[in-house]
Amino acid sequence: MNLRSLLMFGLLGVWAGPAVAALSPLEDLGEQLFFDTQLSSPPGQSCSSCHDPDAAFTDPRRARPTSPGVLPGRFGNRNSPTAMYAAFSPPFYFNTAEGTYRGGLFLDGRVPNLETQAQKPLLNPLEMANPDPASVVEKVRNASYAPLFEQVFGTDVWADTEQAYASIAAAIAAFERTSTFAPFSSKYDAYLAGKAKLSPAEERGLTLFEDPGKGNCAACHPSQRSADGKPPLFTDFSYDNIGVPRNLNNPFYALPADLNPQGGYFVDVGLGQAIGDRTQNGKFKVPTLRNIQLTAPYMHNGYFSSLSTVVDFYNKRDAKPGCASLFMPDDLAERQNCWPAPEVTENVNRQELGNLKLNANEVSDLLAFLGTLTDGYGGTECLLDWFEAQYPNLLFPPGAQSQSWPPYRYRHYSITQSYVGVSASDSQVYYLGNEGGLISVGDSTAWLAMADCKQ
Ligand code: HEC
Ligand code: HEC
Repeated sequence: MNLRSLLMFGLLGVWAGPAVAALSPLEDLGEQLFFDTQLSSPPGQSCSSCHDPDAAFTDPRRARPTSPGVLPGRFGNRNSPTAMYAAFSPPFYFNTAEGTYRGGLFLDGRVPNLETQAQKPLLNPLEMANPDPASVVEKVRNASYAPLFEQVFGTDVWADTEQAYASIAAAIAAFERTSTFAPFSSKYDAYLAGKAKLSPAEERGLTLFEDPGKGNCAACHPSQRSADGKPPLFTDFSYDNIGVPRNLNNPFYALPADLNPQGGYFVDVGLGQAIGDRTQNGKFKVPTLRNIQLTAPYMHNGYFSSLSTVVDFYNKRDAKPGCASLFMPDDLAERQNCWPAPEVTENVNRQELGNLKLNANEVSDLLAFLGTLTDGYGGTECLLDWFEAQYPNLLFPPGAQSQSWPPYRYRHYSITQSYVGVSASDSQVYYLGNEGGLISVGDSTAWLAMADCKQ
């Protein structure tokens, strides 16, 4: 059977539809709390304002390095990290074998778990700015989902304010533990499961990412399944000072003295401050790299505006001269071929990063690999990958890129070069013969099922 007849008459699998786990009442409640903009004081800000699902649960307002609070003119001092995969951080502890701290939540590990974490932003004057737990409890009591709250925690839940407040946080934490925050649905996950092939550039990027003599990224951002078969989280939850420069664009510097006593001299020492141990100054928790393409700007202070400047920094921090100014933004520093001094000079890791000697092709391969970590891989892109993997020689020249010609996406269809290809729109899959013309070979849903691609 040739490809064309296979495409036209091939066996189509039965598609049961994507598996969407129903939320428990506790998780459902947590979801409503997470998105409720009435929970700030004044109303207007929810958890999702800074952790938006459309931006991989980070702040979608990318122009500023840190997020505005609900009160005008207020800003936090740190870049809003993704809340995705945060549930996997172990409670904060000291790993005696390796002599490193690990785990905890927030970038300095100062709280042990999601339940404690969720209590903080509601009362933080730079964030949701409620004066006390009682005022938050009162808001929940008047919310449309108050009956659900009583169903989950009991009708006498309001009697004890402290208990009610902890229950609010517990529900949010339960929502943060659902698969919404940990879908493990990237192209890289499909690759690890043997369901997708990486492009040659992505494959080379993965090798560089893991090679201790090259990128060495996996030393802190592990990329392989754990011994018990769990998918990699791209963080080992350890702490390091990688020498990120100060970010003078951080609006926190300009806050009044009651909110930022040090003004322009503020230095974020991270873990050192959280545990009251100056020997740990400058260290921050290793973040996950899942969905990294969606979460700019980068690092605890949002200094880096793009992944390419991040990689240049890892590659050449110690190979380029220091910038004349300590306060140079990343794009300008890159143009001037320098990197500013670290914000905290103690503990800067010079063994594992800073002078990787990667050439321009290697840098672009590494960036291509980072692009495979975005969740939600599926649909047409996945289908085209599948076709390419199924019919490598017949259909696609090596490294064929998919192209868009709305409403189709296709790989290498060129009448003049007589490639044969496959094209897919939202609803139909077409066969592209070298005689030209599109022939529908059936409905996309069935093909997506056959290729085991999510819709
Ligand atoms: C105004 C912006 C803002 C709001 C609103 C906000 N956050 Fe955050 N979130 C941040 C910032 C900034 C950090 C990092 C702070 C730090 O490390 O000190 C953070 C950290 C976190 C973390 C820890 C991630 C990690 O890897 O350690 C979680 C989880 C989280 N937030 C969940 C929530 C929840 C739940 C709410 C609502 C109750 C919320 N956030 C409201 C900005 C915000
Ligand atoms: C020695 C440990 C270590 C190594 C090796 C390492 N990283 Fe990191 N990475 C970190 C730490 C710690 C941070 C957070 C630093 C901060 O916020 O100040 C980070 C942050 C990042 C971020 C920003 C994430 C975000 O959400 O803001 C990216 C991107 C990144 N690393 C990519 C890489 C790549 C690519 C490599 C290899 C070239 C690499 N890392 C090697 C420890 C490491």
